[in-house]
Order: sequence, then C-alpha cells, then structure tokens
Amino acid sequence: MIIRDAVEADLPAIVDIFNATVPTRMSTAVLEPVSVEERLEWFGEHLPDRHPLWVCEIDGATAGWLSFHSFITRCAYRGTVEVSVYVNERFRRRGVGHALLGQGIARSAELEITTLTGLILGHNTSSLKLFETLGFERWGVLPRVARLDDVERDIVIVGRHVP
Ligand SMILES: CC(C)(COP(=O)(O)OP(=O)(O)OC[C@H]1O[C@@H](n2cnc3c(N)ncnc32)[C@H](O)[C@@H]1OP(=O)(O)O)[C@@H](O)C(=O)NCCC(=O)NCCS
Repeated sequence: MIIRDAVEADLPAIVDIFNATVPTRMSTAVLEPVSVEERLEWFGEHLPDRHPLWVCEIDGATAGWLSFHSFITRCAYRGTVEVSVYVNERFRRRGVGHALLGQGIARSAELEITTLTGLILGHNTSSLKLFETLGFERWGVLPRVARLDDVERDIVIVGRHVP
C-alpha cells in the first residue's frame, strides 16, 4: 500500500471512486455523477504542504483517496480542516480508509493543522465507525438538512484535535 500526493492524472480514478458512491445516497449530498472537468477546480485547490489530496495505491490500482479542505475560509479557522475519505468498493475493509485517515492525523502537525473535522451523513455508519476508531468524537448534528430522494438526512459533525 502506497500513499502519495495525487497528480492530475489520478483525477479520473478519484472521480470514479466518488461517482460509485453517488447512487448509494450514503456518502455524499451530491445527487448526480460529477465529471473530471468539473472536478479540476477542486483538484487545484489542494496544496501538498497545506491541504493535500492523497491517493492510496495497491498493486498499481487506486484503492482510495483522502482530501483536506478548508473548514471555513475565515482566518481564525486556518488550523481547522474538513477531511473526506473515499475507498474503491473493491478495496474496502482492507484497512485503506484507516491508513489514509491515520496518515492524515499523523501528518497534521507538519501541515499546520490543529483540528480535523468530518461532515458525515448520519446514516453512513461505516464512515462514522471509521472516524470513531481513529479518535474522532461527535461534535454536533445538523438534523434533516439533506434531502436525498425525498428522505431527509442528518449531518453528523465529527472532529478531533491533533497535538
Ligand atoms: C467509510 C470507508 C471510507 C471505510 O473505508 P475502508 O477502507 O473500507 O475502511 P477500513 O477497512 O480501513 O476500516 C477501518 C474501520 O472502519 C470501520 N468500518 C469500515 N467499514 C465498515 C462497515 N462497512 N461497517 C462497519 N464498520 C466499518 C471498522 O471499525 C473498521 O475496522 P475493522 O475492519 O477492524 O472492523 C468506505 O466504506 C467508503 O469509502 N465509503 C464510501 C465513501 C464514504 O462514505 N466516505 C465518507 C464520507 S467523508
């Protein structure tokens, strides 16, 4: 398993992994598949030494990715980020998500990050469990803020401070 900074050539695989989760209505409030072109701007917002985008490779395949985004763009939140982690369905339950998020925690200090957050749909039990396993706590719930196919879903805010 190799975790490295993503390059633009990784974007199609990153998008494929994301798009596979869209119809499940478990992972994202995005309701339609996204295109590589649409994601170029998002890709460009990542900076390896500040808000990186990492991919995890196993035997040359893209097994998953982790992204750091600004939490809120105002200056005082500079040390706080939101993380997203997505694992290719073929590679789930093999420790990929744990490795990516674990590395996110381990490298936070050098990225000048003091707080990690995740905004997770309340019924996404696998993701909630993954974050909990790595020391994240439930810091808040936004009740019924997402409407997915006529079902209103909660967003759970999870977070942890990093030393
Ligand atoms: C959530 C997700 C990232 C987990 O990735 P993964 O590589 O399969 O997870 P890991 O194998 O590293 O599992 C680590 C721990 O997370 C928890 N976990 C992961 N998948 C789980 C599941 N389906 N059910 C319950 N717990 C689960 C377990 O505690 C697991 O430890 P264990 O295997 O020792 O029991 C993956 O299911 C995924 O990509 N889901 C779709 C995208 C998504 O919802 N991302 C979150 C939005 S930010």
